[in-house]
Amino acid sequence: MTDLTGGNPLLPNIATIASIRRETGDVKTFQVVFDDPLAVQSFAHKPGQVALISVFGEGEATISITSSPTVKGFLEFSIKKVGRLTSVLHEIEAGAKVAVRGPYGNGFPLDEMKGKNLLFVGGGIGLAPLRSLIDYVLAEENRSDYGNVEILYGARSMADICFKEDLFNKWTACKDTRVYTTIDREEPEWSGHVGFVPAYLEEIKPVSNNKVAITCGPPVMIKFILMSLQRLGFTEERIITTLEMKMKCGIGKCGRCNIGSKYVCLDGPVFTLKQLKELPPEF
Ligand SMILES: Cc1cc2nc3c(=O)[nH]c(=O)nc-3n(C[C@H](O)[C@H](O)[C@H](O)COP(=O)(O)OP(=O)(O)OC[C@H]3O[C@@H](n4cnc5c(N)ncnc54)[C@H](O)[C@@H]3O)c2cc1C
Ligand code: FES
Repeated sequence: MTDLTGGNPLLPNIATIASIRRETGDVKTFQVVFDDPLAVQSFAHKPGQVALISVFGEGEATISITSSPTVKGFLEFSIKKVGRLTSVLHEIEAGAKVAVRGPYGNGFPLDEMKGKNLLFVGGGIGLAPLRSLIDYVLAEENRSDYGNVEILYGARSMADICFKEDLFNKWTACKDTRVYTTIDREEPEWSGHVGFVPAYLEEIKPVSNNKVAITCGPPVMIKFILMSLQRLGFTEERIITTLEMKMKCGIGKCGRCNIGSKYVCLDGPVFTLKQLKELPPEF
């Protein structure tokens, strides 16, 4: 069989939704397998990169690849139902065909993070791109390249917690890894921490020494997290986040995603705080 894209980064590969897992009331994780075995082998992504997923006749959406490149044979996407296309995706069932193009974007700086301890701070569906990197770093073949791992995750309520299996079982069981989970308000069945993510971060007071902080979540959370991280001593170069700008082409051609001289689809979506501060002030 021939790889349909023939090396053209704009052409999609046809794929089948192999399984669908409900994370929360409005988030589902889709496991997707390319129909062409060549595409299964040749699609190589870095944690933090995105793909454009389309449903035939409906449109397409930019979605982070939430599975790690260390896991072979399929890709996972965790998709929140917010509008037209994502609502259509939430209605489809396992076995349906979609088209996937990519991977696009710069991804996380894997080499620069080597030898460092890592602090992940995620909120809501913002854990999706971080999950790919967490699984990559915790994979046996990469574990010795990175130091201790701390994961701080917050959701509005118990029902809004994504990736429960990872947070409460898989990652918690990993060596030199600590997982902190919080929800915004008290609930009768919740015995864990209660409070917003930035406040919990300041309570935990992670030491910033030889550590990189990687954060993704709703804009309001990110704003306070960036301030807290700097108060805790993280320098602008050691704070990494991802930007969400609407994309169309994904390869720097259409000009849909540019911020000043930068294209989120090429220069991002991963940026250090230092790089963000160099962008035009409205961002
Ligand atoms: C780099 C990047 C990575 C992304 N990763 C993911 C991911 O892993 N999972 C995921 O679910 N989404 C992700 N998104 C967001 C996703 O691309 C959009 O939410 C999606 O395109 C919406 O498509 P739609 O056709 O359903 O919504 P539209 O019909 O385009 O929008 C419908 C309504 O929803 C609002 N809306 C659109 N996007 C958002 C949003 N992100 N948050 C809140 N309201 C919104 C619009 O303003 C509009 O009012 C990512 C976006 C970028 C740029
Ligand atoms: S999405 Fe077209 S230039 Fe970035």
